[in-house]
Amino acid sequence: MALRIVSGTANRPLADAIAAAMGIALTACTVERFPDGEVRPVVGNVRGADVYLVQPTGPAVNEHVVELLLLLDACRRAGAARVTAVVPYFGYARQDRRSRSGEAVGARVIADALAAAGAHRLVVVDPHTVALEAMCAMPVEMLTSVPGLVGALTPVAAETVVVAPDFGAVKLAQHYAKLLDAAVAVVRKTRETGTTVRAEEIVGDVRARPTVVVDDMISTGGTIEAAVRVLLAHHAEGDIAVAATHGPLTATAAERLGAIPLRRLLVTDSVRQEPILAPPRQVHSLAPLLADAIGRLHRDEPLDELLVRT
Ligand code: R5P
Repeated sequence: MALRIVSGTANRPLADAIAAAMGIALTACTVERFPDGEVRPVVGNVRGADVYLVQPTGPAVNEHVVELLLLLDACRRAGAARVTAVVPYFGYARQDRRSRSGEAVGARVIADALAAAGAHRLVVVDPHTVALEAMCAMPVEMLTSVPGLVGALTPVAAETVVVAPDFGAVKLAQHYAKLLDAAVAVVRKTRETGTTVRAEEIVGDVRARPTVVVDDMISTGGTIEAAVRVLLAHHAEGDIAVAATHGPLTATAAERLGAIPLRRLLVTDSVRQEPILAPPRQVHSLAPLLADAIGRLHRDEPLDELLVRT
């Protein structure tokens, strides 16, 4: 079965880099928009092929979700034998449960829609919750960017502490800490609204120690800003590094992260990175990881060390 990589418009540079790493060309695909905003994708020849459709659902999230659904349908109707949705950043993963009555379980709605549109398999990177797998009827491969980000962070100073900015990030922090041979501390955070959080306490010793704050994603920067302020209040070394897999950054994030003393700010290109943040922001590309995973999936080989540890 021939391998084809198709890209939507969400992150064409990433898809180009994946294809280049695999030594193949992207399959032609155009996405037109009617004047009222309606999306009209057209894919090239995918008949009988093993198709990998690259479309992270970063900002504008809803635009990119709808485009992904229509592209899946287009591939199916064009006779693709198997279609894998490669969604390095899976928007809506934060809505994995009802935290108060009256809410939707957004992650489940999107998972069902992907299956209905024709995805046979889903590939994501460091999803907000591993519960995503149980919400999807199709197989889900959860890759991790942590070894790559650790490689980009290394070497770190002796006595470094890896900091989870909330309890949800503890497993992620433990993965970093294991690879960096570092201790873990956790900030106690409460989310007040979609854009504001409160953090006052820290569990773990950070006094006079260098720290790396890690998270699955940075959006408004509120979580990272609050964690850094707690670290400073607890006398951590001022030289703080931050690493996050996904950076669907808003303008607010630029303001908030610009106002705190960061030595390094590392994100991946799972979401197309707009230059809204000045250095020390660095972008680590997921292309080698995704190219490796797509190659193995196409050859029906195990993904082993590429996967999130649960
Ligand atoms: C929340 O639980 C997530 O893991 C992130 O901490 C959060 O979504 C980051 O968002 P923001 O940058 O807006 O605080």
